[in-house]
Amino acid sequence: MKRPLIISWSQDFSVGVPQLDKDHKQLLHFINTIYANSTAMNSDNIEDLLSSMIAFSVKHFHNEESYMRRIGFERLAEHKALHDEFMEKAQQFLNDFRRSGKRVIGAEVSTFLASWWKDHILYEDQQYTTAGTSVGPR
Ligand SMILES: [Fe+2]
Repeated sequence: MKRPLIISWSQDFSVGVPQLDKDHKQLLHFINTIYANSTAMNSDNIEDLLSSMIAFSVKHFHNEESYMRRIGFERLAEHKALHDEFMEKAQQFLNDFRRSGKRVIGAEVSTFLASWWKDHILYEDQQYTTAGTSVGPR
């Protein structure tokens, strides 16, 4: 039986920048795939998916930070610190996963990822959305 999604996209997630929305949708897709694979049998998939998600996050954070720089978003340094914190935590999960002989199951990882990204996109990312509207159409 197919597991339900742990996180799904809604218009509330939109930051009004097509590329960044596209990135965020891809990230949610990664999280749902990790969640769907979070059984002991699929632990190899989790490792691959988690490292692909980390690589994609690096690219996405770069895109988002460039955008924030372009619109002169004042809280860039603060926001970047949240991204860095996430990268550390996600990398830690991957290391634990490898070191523990995969005892850390995907469910714990997907719960963390789903709640981090949900809060981040809905609260933190929405702050540059408002800042961006003052520079006119994109
Ligand atoms: Fe962000």
